[in-house]
Amino acid sequence: MSTTTSGSTHDGGVNDASGGRTVAAPQSSLDASPALRAQGLTKRFKVGGIGSQRLVHAVEDFNIELFHGQVVALVGESGSGKSTVARLLAQTLPATGGRIELNGRVVKVANGRQLRHYCHDVQMIFQDPFASLNAIHTVRYILGRSVAIHRPGLNHAQRTTAIEELLDEVKLSPPRRFIDKYPHELSGGQRQRIAIARTLAASPDVLLADEPISMLDVSMRLGVLNLLADLRDRKHLAILYITHDVASARYFADQTMVMYAGRIVERGDSETVTQRPAHPYTQLLVASAPDPDHLADAAVGARGEPPSLINPPPGCSFAARCPLANQLCRQELPRLIEVSPGHQAACWAHSDHAGAPVSRSNRQGAQS
Ligand SMILES: Nc1ncnc2c1ncn2[C@@H]1O[C@H](COP(=O)(O)OP(=O)(O)OP(=O)(O)O)[C@@H](O)[C@H]1O
Ligand code: SF4
Ligand SMILES: [Mg+2]
Repeated sequence: MSTTTSGSTHDGGVNDASGGRTVAAPQSSLDASPALRAQGLTKRFKVGGIGSQRLVHAVEDFNIELFHGQVVALVGESGSGKSTVARLLAQTLPATGGRIELNGRVVKVANGRQLRHYCHDVQMIFQDPFASLNAIHTVRYILGRSVAIHRPGLNHAQRTTAIEELLDEVKLSPPRRFIDKYPHELSGGQRQRIAIARTLAASPDVLLADEPISMLDVSMRLGVLNLLADLRDRKHLAILYITHDVASARYFADQTMVMYAGRIVERGDSETVTQRPAHPYTQLLVASAPDPDHLADAAVGARGEPPSLINPPPGCSFAARCPLANQLCRQELPRLIEVSPGHQAACWAHSDHAGAPVSRSNRQGAQS
């Protein structure tokens, strides 16, 4: 892997701002099959109280493969369904439909014991490291508890060694400087490193990271991303990286998926998706970086809101904001179409369907 690392052991002073990275090819036979695969994942939330038939279509027909040693970024504006996807993949939220496979086996989590078993392999990191760590406990207690759960049978000395190893893993060195601290005595970046260390106690195959750097000071973000990249490479972890930030997806993720109104609208390798976006929504997202929640200010033709998730429109969910939208777009849902090898977009403008809109890039292609 050629991911740039800062070389820093702490969060302070991380200021390496190098840009793109190349995507590594799968390195071993472990890469041949995904660590985690979801097919047709769907979530509809019932809203409106007893007897209500109203459903929020939060996630529709979501497919993903997370390979060992790779990062997939899931990008989209607020409310697009990213966290719901993470909770479905973590099995902390029951799906309305679809299936999940872990290392090739269909997963059915019907009780607490099965969920605990699943959590050995699939761990989550949350946005707010302060909220996710219990303020009244020391690092020793927080990590010791996870070690006790995931590696029962260790005596006191072995457990202390295991805690110190976890601190080393997340570059909080020397461990004795951190082991007896309380969360409020640590910086945001250090707290997030403790949260990451806690997941590592389970020796997981998969990390689901829901906006893990968005609440950190800018100076600490790169350090935490580099740590995750290091863990991906050293421990061969499969990582789902949820973010609003297209630039960090390009920097950190091998693959990028773009979500809009509960559906994937574009996917491919991160360099292609972020540098040559094919879907009009991704084009706006890239143009509006770093603030994807204010697309309307970013480009003419993008005004408007995402569609209602309670009564989703029959056609393309982006039609109300898309400058290319025509009758076909408004009537029929576009499926993901291969734009180039490994690069797909759910947009009629990339199809040869009768009545499809013609994008500027397609028009140029036809003329040349
Ligand atoms: N428990 C729930 N009941 C009803 N609707 C819900 C529930 N949880 C989420 N939703 C809705 O599902 C949609 C997707 O929410 P989700 O939190 O997954 O979005 P997100 O992409 O993570 O947004 P953000 O970037 O703000 O974190 C939103 O419309 C949200 O209001
Ligand atoms: S399908 Fe139509 S409305 Fe949707 S993004 Fe493509 S051109 Fe725009
Ligand atoms: Mg979210």
